[in-house]
Amino acid sequence: YVIGVDLGTSAVKVLLARQDGEIIQEVSKSYPLLQPQTGYSEQDPEEWVEKTIEALKELVDHFDDEPSKIVGLSFSGQMHGLVLLDDNKNVLRNSILWNDTRTTEQCKQIYDRAGRDKVLKITKNPVLEGFTLTKLLWVKEHEPDLFEKANVFLLPKDYLRYRLTGHIHSEYSDAAGTLLLEVAEKRWSEEMCELVGIPHSICPPLVESHACVGTLTSEVAGLTGLSESTQVFAGAADNACGAIGAGIISNGSTLCSIGTSGVVLSYEESKDRDFSGDIHYFNHAQEDAFYTMGVTLSAGYSLSWFKETFAASESFDQLLAGLADVPIGAKGLLFTPYLVGERTPHADSSIRSSFIGIDAAHKRIDFARAVLEGITFSLQESVEIFRNSGKKIDHIISIGGGAKNEMWLQIQADIFNATIVKLANEQGPALGAAILAAYGSGLFNSLEECTNTFIKYDKSYDPIPENVEKYERLFLLYKKVYEQTKQLND
Ligand code: XUL
Repeated sequence: YVIGVDLGTSAVKVLLARQDGEIIQEVSKSYPLLQPQTGYSEQDPEEWVEKTIEALKELVDHFDDEPSKIVGLSFSGQMHGLVLLDDNKNVLRNSILWNDTRTTEQCKQIYDRAGRDKVLKITKNPVLEGFTLTKLLWVKEHEPDLFEKANVFLLPKDYLRYRLTGHIHSEYSDAAGTLLLEVAEKRWSEEMCELVGIPHSICPPLVESHACVGTLTSEVAGLTGLSESTQVFAGAADNACGAIGAGIISNGSTLCSIGTSGVVLSYEESKDRDFSGDIHYFNHAQEDAFYTMGVTLSAGYSLSWFKETFAASESFDQLLAGLADVPIGAKGLLFTPYLVGERTPHADSSIRSSFIGIDAAHKRIDFARAVLEGITFSLQESVEIFRNSGKKIDHIISIGGGAKNEMWLQIQADIFNATIVKLANEQGPALGAAILAAYGSGLFNSLEECTNTFIKYDKSYDPIPENVEKYERLFLLYKKVYEQTKQLND
């Protein structure tokens, strides 16, 4: 047996899987998001530790076999969050999370000091408020006494792993989201540290995602009921784990994950491609591989915003009843999902959403269809970047909320012009973490053998040529909306 721990933004999920790929049990425990000011988003790292221990204990309490048969445990984690530790490895302040947007000024400073070209060359990514370095600089500027005391920084799941094992590490897939890693060379960048004024010594040692970093402390073993000999593996960023858990481990494989935010992620074996910062370029959890990724900030969130605002008392099924009767293009209605700004391709935190083409005869269901299509068009902008770079994208694994509605799956097939494949018994990033533990434990000869055992595919949805053609025309109009509405919010 192995355990995958997914340290998310709203909850931690622990998943127990058997070596033959059978999911035995899962437990989730939620914790609050602290938002003391607009744009601030923090969490207390102690909450992550407490809730994870509670969840693991519950899992073991319900396990009807010997705990010592659980041989490995690994992690998936929300990316980019900053945890600062002092010389005694105590937490110096609450973690500033990936969705905290207070660091626009620090983003400018990084470009001023290092230059955009250099940042892209070293880190392969653009500077965004979400990324860790901007948070380090914010603390240095606004809480200098505290920054002085910082001995090491960690990403959220790396801190959790430290508390469970007593060992401090990070790994490449999460380090890639800090803006301090030389992504291609897999080492912390002394040059970036120097240019922006961050001591290189606060970067933690790096290991591979499937590397064993030790075993559980006797205290944690006692609190959870797990065996002290349970091996702990480094794990990976949630998007990398989501990809592993969907079998995105070879060339030509692509993932579309629609949760609160939406992601299109494509496997990348080369470290040398240049996307000029248009999309994210991160190290994969698979050794020496990479993935490129475009992000739509308000994907599922656009749909839940629409429901909360116009149909609060109804379920999503009620909201979407009759969707099949609305033709492609929602009778001339177009929606852009920029409710909280956009990441790919515009990296613009001030742009906002539009409904365009409203007719007196439009009904709520027409608006709902426009929302689904608008979210998918936004993700298609990432797919287009991949294709323009020469990538062949003819089938995409779809997971998350976007994979729960058959009509939406067909919309994805028609807009992406690719076969969409759904997973059976989808488990998200926690499964990726469990797979890393199983692979690290030596239970399988290769990562591929491992994913073949754990991942099961369900139905697929082929693009319908007539629909593809209609959407291609609408997509051209969709892309014009950004430039035309940008000034509204400047
Ligand atoms: C990725 C990102 C989010 C977080 C969510 O760049 O910011 O997907 O990883 O946990």
